[in-house]
Amino acid sequence: MRVIIKDNYEEMSKAAAQLVKNRILNKNNLILGLATGSSPIGLYKELIKMCEKKEISFKKMKTFNLDEYYELNPDHPQSYRYFMNINLFDYIDINKKETYVPDGLAKDVDKFCSDYEKKIKSEDGIDLQVIGIGGDGHIGFNEPGTSLASRTHLVILDEQTIKDNARFFNSIDEVPKSAITMGVGTVLDTKEILLVANGIKKAKIVAQALEGPITSMVTCSAIQLHPKVTVFLDKEAASELKRLSYYNFVEKQLANMNISL
Ligand code: GLP
Repeated sequence: MRVIIKDNYEEMSKAAAQLVKNRILNKNNLILGLATGSSPIGLYKELIKMCEKKEISFKKMKTFNLDEYYELNPDHPQSYRYFMNINLFDYIDINKKETYVPDGLAKDVDKFCSDYEKKIKSEDGIDLQVIGIGGDGHIGFNEPGTSLASRTHLVILDEQTIKDNARFFNSIDEVPKSAITMGVGTVLDTKEILLVANGIKKAKIVAQALEGPITSMVTCSAIQLHPKVTVFLDKEAASELKRLSYYNFVEKQLANMNISL
């Protein structure tokens, strides 16, 4: 696992976007996994700029989102489909038909979930998965206690998550109580993971996820089992890490050796 710590959110977002750019330049039909939340917005802004400057193209790419609120219409301003449109898809040259977000209106949820898994498999898996971390350590919507082997499934959201996400809705009562999410096992099956986290509010949970025990109580800790993970943090989110100076030392040495992202 590489842990890259930048001075602020903007620098963190730029560095994360550089990794995505490198992967797209290596494979123009990259299968990209995407996340919502405030953490990756800066990364998406950078990707939009790169696309506008024609440094990268999404034309041949397909994307799969981690999760979606259940029973929320895709046109709802708080749906994750809507979020992806206004924060990325509307501004890049991707074929929107090839952008997959779990269907929050699926009637047969079990069938939808197994079809989502099959669709990912049929593309030979996700090359690079972007993730954030929730206040309780979740990835996607895999709340504490979710099996680390879980696949795409319907989840009842934790009260903490409902509270955390209430800021985006008119009132807490409007926040959906359930969601469809890729499982922890689905995320672990991806070929590479990119985690972004910023702000002092994330410091403790980031330290638990990266340096604490691997436990379903902090589903993000499962990424310790993945062979190819790069974590991008701002200084605040990194402030509780025990091995902070080592991570900075590693990056210095890699830079000296001209090993980039
Ligand atoms: C939601 C999403 C997660 C995201 C988390 C953190 O719960 N389902 O995928 O990582 O929020 O959001 P933020 O980046 O706004 O802190």
